[in-house]
Amino acid sequence: MTPHVDPDPRTGAAVKAADRAHVFHSWSAQGLIDPLAVAGAEGSYFWDYDGNRYLDFTSGLVFTNIGYQHPKVVAAIQEQAGKLATFAPAFAVEARSEAARLIAERTPGDLDKIFFTNGGAEAVENAVRLARLHTGRHKVMSAYRSYHGATAQAINLTGDPRRWASDTGSAGVVRFWAPFLYRSAFYSTTEAEECARALTHLEDTIAFEGPGTIAAIILETVPGTAGIMTPPPGYLAGVREICDRYGIVLVLDEVMSGFGRTGAWFAADLYGVTPDLMTFAKGVNSGYVPLGGVAISAEIAATFDKRPFPGGLTYSGHPLACAAAVATINVMEDEGIVDHAAHIGSTVLEPGLRDLAARHPSVGEVRGTGVFWALELVKSRETREPLVPYNAAGPDAAPMAAFGAACKKNGVWPFINMNRTHVVPPCNITEAEAKEGLAVLDEALSVADEYTV
Ligand SMILES: Cc1ncc(COP(=O)(O)O)c(C=O)c1O
Repeated sequence: MTPHVDPDPRTGAAVKAADRAHVFHSWSAQGLIDPLAVAGAEGSYFWDYDGNRYLDFTSGLVFTNIGYQHPKVVAAIQEQAGKLATFAPAFAVEARSEAARLIAERTPGDLDKIFFTNGGAEAVENAVRLARLHTGRHKVMSAYRSYHGATAQAINLTGDPRRWASDTGSAGVVRFWAPFLYRSAFYSTTEAEECARALTHLEDTIAFEGPGTIAAIILETVPGTAGIMTPPPGYLAGVREICDRYGIVLVLDEVMSGFGRTGAWFAADLYGVTPDLMTFAKGVNSGYVPLGGVAISAEIAATFDKRPFPGGLTYSGHPLACAAAVATINVMEDEGIVDHAAHIGSTVLEPGLRDLAARHPSVGEVRGTGVFWALELVKSRETREPLVPYNAAGPDAAPMAAFGAACKKNGVWPFINMNRTHVVPPCNITEAEAKEGLAVLDEALSVADEYTV
């Protein structure tokens, strides 16, 4: 339950005015945006100053895995602030040591050393640096349908159009097609075919690039922003085998898929694959204080036993962020939140979304796991033409904008990317909340249906 909050439109107007005057927002034409002034948040909900409350089906940017304002995590941050609010990274600090221990205990295989960053992109930057120094090679391979962050190397590794404006074309990146049966790059008709052809394509690309020139392959274990495409059985194991054969470092990016999102601590657990490096951020502390990192295998860590690692950040392993991680991981463990994510996914979200797909012609495909679901909206199920064109903006994106407006009108804040809506609520969303959100999606999809042919 959210507390009763009296509307306060005057404060809301002041917050909005200062924002519009002085805050420069990400990924936006500054004159064309109208950010909602948020008055507060708790659990799966947030509310504005006008008395409107929203069920957050986005978990922020897919990071509030334990919901907003969990009292134990808030208290842990307050306690850490009172004890030791900050300290430089070269020292051993209790909150940092404990966060690293708890993370290493949960990461697969021998990924037992943790390099802390302030977020996901920095984690990717440093994973690539580690891979290049470890192998002495330069090229890094990444998938077209991917997002890896907005810093220089991470945005070049990214496949989606946010890369285009910053793509140097000389960042040592080689892109390939990862499996996605619904829009197969390989004309496949079954998951097994898609898996085999995607692996052959990857191996051919490596052969023609020169295996000895490739430091790493980076993949989101389950690609997130690009569409939550759960990989077909055998694909990740196949990539692991190819990496082993050519001495290529396998980096799994679990910035979005990690810490319970897929109904497992890490998506890699679902596929039984251990990478050499694994990046994380977001859910590690539900985004209460910025934190990310790279979990490093024993072999790669050993490369830097006697040789300095040439990378660092002033706030690496910040005590406030690490205290939030310790509290978050303990809360997730104590409250069984990872199992809950798996359960709510298989018993409420998956059946509920499949039911919506059966009744709404605008839904082309439902896919996902845990609290990590995508609905692919289409003009026609037969042709699979997306409801809006790839990278559509302005009037071209109107059908998705109408769908989004219908969600918001009825109290659900939707995640929308191109022709998809993602259902990515907190991992501890209740059954009643999940059903409330599905009922709103039901109504909003009727709006999307109007654009089908
Ligand atoms: C898979 C993945 N990697 C990296 C990033 C970048 O993380 P950050 O925005 O914290 O830099 C994101 C952000 O959405 C992501 O989803």
